[in-house]
Amino acid sequence: MAQDPFDWIDRHHARRRAAGLVRTLRPRPADPSLIDLAGNDYLGLTRHHEVTAAAAAAARRWGAGATGSRLVTGSTELHARLEAELADFCGFEAALVFSSGYTANLAAVTALSGPADAAGPGPLLVSDAGNHASLIDGCRLARAGTAVVPHADPEAVRKTLEAHGGPALAVTDSVFSVDGDAAPLAALADACRAHGAALLVDDAHGLGVLGDGGRGALHAAGLAGAPDVVATVTLSKSLGSQGGAVLGPARVIRHLVSNARTFIFDTGLAPAAVGAALASLEVLRREPERAARVRYVAGELHRRVTAAGHLSVRPDAAVVSVRAPSPEAAVAWAADCRAEGLAVGCFRPPSVPDGVSRLRLTARADLSDRQIAEAAATVLRTAPAA
Ligand SMILES: Cc1ncc(COP(=O)(O)O)c(C=O)c1O
Repeated sequence: MAQDPFDWIDRHHARRRAAGLVRTLRPRPADPSLIDLAGNDYLGLTRHHEVTAAAAAAARRWGAGATGSRLVTGSTELHARLEAELADFCGFEAALVFSSGYTANLAAVTALSGPADAAGPGPLLVSDAGNHASLIDGCRLARAGTAVVPHADPEAVRKTLEAHGGPALAVTDSVFSVDGDAAPLAALADACRAHGAALLVDDAHGLGVLGDGGRGALHAAGLAGAPDVVATVTLSKSLGSQGGAVLGPARVIRHLVSNARTFIFDTGLAPAAVGAALASLEVLRREPERAARVRYVAGELHRRVTAAGHLSVRPDAAVVSVRAPSPEAAVAWAADCRAEGLAVGCFRPPSVPDGVSRLRLTARADLSDRQIAEAAATVLRTAPAA
């Protein structure tokens, strides 16, 4: 071999290792003895007996896989039922299910914007600087003009739309995954409406947690079902399953079916995941108190870590983020928690836009008061010296 074509990978790896940024996989056992504050099973539904039974029943009835893309053989009656249920639960006219929240976001951003063509300029994308990677990648794939605006700043959105003067789509997370803070949705919608722009909100962390009985951040803000608002959700967090969806006006959903590449060229969501998500929605309708409980747990975790002097943004939903002094300290802190029986998330560059590393504690509705106290005590006991 004249030259090693992957030589550069080793140099890249060495640079990342020196910066404390190498990531490693750690397969977990089926029944961990850890308290899990690292996953996104906000409502404790992923192992709920009705949810797992529905997943198994769906696989037996419909098969282990969807067998094809949604437009060929991958749309079952079960997919249609989930779409109707999601739309109804969250208060939107229609819904479209995808194989992940990531592909749902790519679909919504790319199909609702695009480059200039013979018909005129494509809609400008106005994207919050703190948006999730899947929204950022959607903006990149869209080949549309993109203005990145400061985080949670409706005035900046308003000014950008005013200066642009043409069609536009403002894009934001409802709850930001790094700090757990909520977007100012009502003010963003006002800014969009003043300039005839549409608003796309990724409610990955809001569904099941915010709004009446967990109907999401848009429901809470009175924006669900509005003709100029589109939401995306994941089925993999509060609903304990896998997959994603876009919710919005029927004509937007119809447009996605014919235009969204991650819908058209992707195998449909596996029936087991569809069945599980349907069962989770049923549980949530019957037990709406799960949504309030997860918010309470997040508030308690936050109260306990800030009382001990740690920096943490007040959580608007289930994500509690605690500042760490460096990427290395964050990794060591998370490892020490794990050694003491607590799994926590660890956020560091490039996943954090401001370069500040954090521990991330995700609240769960099924934690007992004793587990909350134990978890907070472990975080405090293992904290790096200030
Ligand atoms: C805000 C946000 N949007 C989208 C996604 C992607 O969803 P999925 O995991 O279903 O692909 C995630 C996380 O996974 C997320 O945190």
